[in-house]
Amino acid sequence: MTSSTLLLFFWIVLVTFSITSVEARKHQTKKSKPQKHQKGGNNTHDSHLPRPAPTPVPQYGSFSVLSFGAKGDGVSDDSNALIAAWKAACKVNGASVEIPSGFKFLIKPITLQGPCMPDVVLQIDGTLMAPPKVSSWSKSSLFQWINFKWVHNFTIQGTGVVDGQGSDWWTGSSSSSSIYNYLQKKSNKHMPNFKPTALRFYSSYDVTVRDIRIINSPQCHLKFDSSGGIIVDNITISSPENSPNTDGIHLQNTQNVEIHHSTIGCGDDCVSIQTGCSNVHVHHINCGPGHGISLGGLGKDRSVACVSNIIVNDITFQNTLSGVRIKTWQGGIGSVKNVSFSNIQVSNVKVPIMIDQYYCDKKSCKNQTGAVAISGVKYDQIIGTYSVQPVHLACSSDIPCKDVDLIDIQLKPSAGYQRFQHALCWNSYGKSQAPLVPSSIDYCLRRDENPVERIAKSQDRQHQC
Ligand SMILES: *[C@@H]1O[C@H](CO)[C@@H](O)[C@H](O)[C@H]1NC(C)=O
Ligand SMILES: *[C@@H]1O[C@H](CO)[C@@H](O)[C@H](O)[C@H]1NC(C)=O
Ligand SMILES: *[C@@H]1O[C@H](CO)[C@@H](O)[C@H](O)[C@H]1NC(C)=O
Ligand SMILES: *[C@@H]1O[C@H](CO)[C@@H](O)[C@H](O)[C@H]1NC(C)=O
Ligand SMILES: *[C@@H]1O[C@H](CO)[C@@H](O)[C@H](O)[C@H]1NC(C)=O
Repeated sequence: MTSSTLLLFFWIVLVTFSITSVEARKHQTKKSKPQKHQKGGNNTHDSHLPRPAPTPVPQYGSFSVLSFGAKGDGVSDDSNALIAAWKAACKVNGASVEIPSGFKFLIKPITLQGPCMPDVVLQIDGTLMAPPKVSSWSKSSLFQWINFKWVHNFTIQGTGVVDGQGSDWWTGSSSSSSIYNYLQKKSNKHMPNFKPTALRFYSSYDVTVRDIRIINSPQCHLKFDSSGGIIVDNITISSPENSPNTDGIHLQNTQNVEIHHSTIGCGDDCVSIQTGCSNVHVHHINCGPGHGISLGGLGKDRSVACVSNIIVNDITFQNTLSGVRIKTWQGGIGSVKNVSFSNIQVSNVKVPIMIDQYYCDKKSCKNQTGAVAISGVKYDQIIGTYSVQPVHLACSSDIPCKDVDLIDIQLKPSAGYQRFQHALCWNSYGKSQAPLVPSSIDYCLRRDENPVERIAKSQDRQHQC
């Protein structure tokens, strides 16, 4: 064979190959048409509709769960298919695991483990559903539903839904106190104390989560634990206002985080920032219903807590328990430093600005000496309406809050609330700057540059961070 015939041969092979793959793509487009139709319609009965048998036509780098045996009928257990698709995609640079639209995949608690090749994507356009009954979760898998472990340089995106189907977990919860709930709780004694988070990232770096909806988690919706380099953009989280402990996004031991342009409404904190977090930027969030954006509870059981360099700006809160809040338990060690809350719009929020160093989740907690030290907290442009108290800064009697700035705070009582209270500041030092409404905010903070700390060696306690 001459070199030119060899070239011709390769050319023919190449052309044939491209034609085949164009055909394959056409074939796939045709197949997926009926799914598009269903998406616009009433999804409630999707799972009972007959659907075409899935044809596995894996595109290059694209691993559909349907190609790995998933049924997508909302009833069959598709966990193994998802794990298999993940394992295959994990080996390919830039691969994506596809959760196609128009299907509902029932997934048991699973771990999707890395490290994988760079730029792997989990493309969620359909629905992932957790087991609906508490009894179908095994005792050993209550920590979370879908656990991402050791993943680096990874993205979750798509127009789909992650549905924790948590309602069975919410009944008879400990946060309700009526006699009815008490009785229900008694009859419900098999309810585990531990409830799963929907999506959890553990020891993962350079992760983006965008566009998806996460709904009705048994407990927290999206958690990052011991991770870094996190971006959350344009997501929606929703669960009912009365669903207990259903935090939106929970950060723990996680640094370099940006959470933005998202809508979060749930039964607990929209964003909760816990110990070990620093360089966290939360902005352009609609929060409510829920408990607001919180740092803490920190320092429980005399533990060390360290949180620093937090920026929260351009947030709207509607009908939330608090707006921006720092809560610490008595007796804790460590510090909260360099926090800025600015351009915050509140609407009918119970207490828009809150520091609570006497945080307690029961009727009463034991008095303890010492506290997580709070310093450098700036509140700038917090504007809107409140229903209980505009400002509540209850700092530790032992260690004062230092360098607290209140600048341009304009808070009016919500319509219909007459018995509102004045601003309260206890042992908190810093400066305030007009405009300040109500005017009680003006004389709330104390101005001493070097306030007295009542417990010895409080510096040592802070230096644990
Ligand atoms: C979907 O179907 C259910 C049951 O037939 C019905 O109750 C519901 O209103 C429908 N929803 C929409 C959006 O059509
Ligand atoms: C993955 O790494 C590439 C190259 O550094 C970068 O462009 C991309 O944004 C990273 N992806 C994520 C999700 O961090
Ligand atoms: C936000 O996500 C939705 C899907 O949930 C998508 O349709 C929309 O284009 C996204 N917006 C941006 C700005 O990316
Ligand atoms: C305070 O935090 C911001 C945001 O993370 C950071 O840019 C700034 O350098 C920090 N300031 C100090 C004094 O650490
Ligand atoms: C804690 O101390 C406060 C103020 O001294 C007191 O009013 C309260 O009763 C104490 N609580 C307990 C549980 O000891």
